[in-house]
Amino acid sequence: MSKPMNLKVVVWRQPGPDAPGKMVEYEVRGVPPEASFLEMLDILNEQLIDKGEEPIAFDSDCREGICGSCGAVVDGVAHGPWRGATLCQLHMRHFSDGDTIYIEPWRARAFPVIKDLVVDRSALDRIVQAGGYVSFNTGSAPEANSIPIGREVAEQAFDAATCIGCGACVAQCKNASAYLFTAAKISHLALLPQGQPEAKRRALRMLEQHDAEGFGACSNEGECEAVCPKGISIANIARMVREVLKARLS
Ligand code: SF4
Ligand code: FES
Repeated sequence: MSKPMNLKVVVWRQPGPDAPGKMVEYEVRGVPPEASFLEMLDILNEQLIDKGEEPIAFDSDCREGICGSCGAVVDGVAHGPWRGATLCQLHMRHFSDGDTIYIEPWRARAFPVIKDLVVDRSALDRIVQAGGYVSFNTGSAPEANSIPIGREVAEQAFDAATCIGCGACVAQCKNASAYLFTAAKISHLALLPQGQPEAKRRALRMLEQHDAEGFGACSNEGECEAVCPKGISIANIARMVREVLKARLS
């Protein structure tokens, strides 16, 4: 096992949604390089609790890069400096003994801070509720191979479907746009025959909901794709725009 590190972390502390927040500096001692970033926060929280201080609130669930619960801006980068990974998959070996690490919540008007690093991402759920589904009459399940789908299309749809709804794309975008998230959800269904009956209504409603939630528009910066832990391509945004134009022109 490698030598434990001593670090300085500067974290956003905000006791509640309407309370003022500020960056607070802490020493965190004895962090194994094998620890994940969230385990480093666990170590810091144990030290804070031992001193009778309030632990830092942050979201997590699976801690395996699957659920999309975790996330913070680390040294200015959503999910931290290791590309293609969620915050729970970031390991402390990417930092050095004596480093100072800055940790902030997702910053976006549509993601209000609940406490410390925890933000309300229900705006993303409402975008999905506006049309990110297919409707079927109840009855027996259709035969699995009754609708053949080409491999290339199936793979593109699968890639879009890997979005975990973490919100890093929004946090990194200077416009706080959720276009990459919305485009992934629209693309996933627009590519498949099962998604066609509701395709026009879906694209229009989901984009309307995106705008109504207060997310910004896309100005082709590509920051979203760069931080997306699932490698969702901005080609999906082009597909979403085509879907919306098709719907508006029909
Ligand atoms: S597109 Fe990527 S960064 Fe955005 S919510 Fe989905 S997984 Fe997270
Ligand atoms: S805790 Fe589930 S993706 Fe990080």
